[in-house]
Amino acid sequence: MRPQVFLTRRVPEPVLARLESSFELADAIAGSAGLVTIPADVVGAELFDAAGPGLRIVANFGVGYDSVDLEEATRRGVVVSNTPDVLTEATAELTIALVLALLRRVAEGDRLVRRQEEWALAPTFMLGEGLGGKTLGIVGLGRIGSEVARLAEAFGMRVVHTRGSGPYEEIPLDRLLGEADVVSLHVPLTSETRHLIGVRELELMRGDAVLVNVSRGPVVDEAALVAALKGGRIAGAALDVYEHEPGVSAGLLELENVVLSPHLGSSTHAAREAMGMLCADALEAVLLRDELPAHVVNPEAWSAD
Ligand code: DGY
Repeated sequence: MRPQVFLTRRVPEPVLARLESSFELADAIAGSAGLVTIPADVVGAELFDAAGPGLRIVANFGVGYDSVDLEEATRRGVVVSNTPDVLTEATAELTIALVLALLRRVAEGDRLVRRQEEWALAPTFMLGEGLGGKTLGIVGLGRIGSEVARLAEAFGMRVVHTRGSGPYEEIPLDRLLGEADVVSLHVPLTSETRHLIGVRELELMRGDAVLVNVSRGPVVDEAALVAALKGGRIAGAALDVYEHEPGVSAGLLELENVVLSPHLGSSTHAAREAMGMLCADALEAVLLRDELPAHVVNPEAWSAD
């Protein structure tokens, strides 16, 4: 009998076809040997209990796995995999799209046109900022941060960063916050990065600077951000992720100098299909070949198996 796999969400068609050819796709979680979860799921004891003792792998459809209780998974010998690299380009592109939308006032202009407000081309109408010559401060120069830096350089931006390795100047966070025109967050959510950007950090930013977050919502203290924006402490924000996702602070909705997108970082057809194929690779490795998957995040679970 083929191993039973449960998907918490629909996946792209080619991924579904591949999973159907290798596994028994179940309507219910009970009795599953493998799960495909997404970062919006809460993956912990309750879900593992629902699957039952035969659960061997959780394939996380995403690079970020902060939604998974890794300790609990490891304790139970459940291997967890993720989907790095294949979404790097898509997420970096979205970051640049948000920066441009914010600084060139694209979303604000779109709202104005849709309201059918009277407008006319004029030398001082809806002026924004270009990227050339601006300083981009990347908080977390990992895979995605590095790709954002590469794209930003093509727009003539100077890049500084807080941590990671690359050909850019590394400076402490406080200095970056004081220097950057655009502060862009690319760190995973951990106990150290939760509310990494709060009242104090927003105070350190320049008044004409903007904050961009495509990482995880709780990296930013959203209430502090709303206060900083309303008080004119910073010039704007572009957010793809939210502290209480999918909820969005009401204060953000009222502001024109804020661009909001619904967690679209990796949402290209190509990236999502590739992410799904990595999930299938991981499930097949564990359930069909009894091998550790290439992108395992808790290899220690294997020996606990
Ligand atoms: C990830 O991969 O972690 C994204 O946030 C979900 O697409």
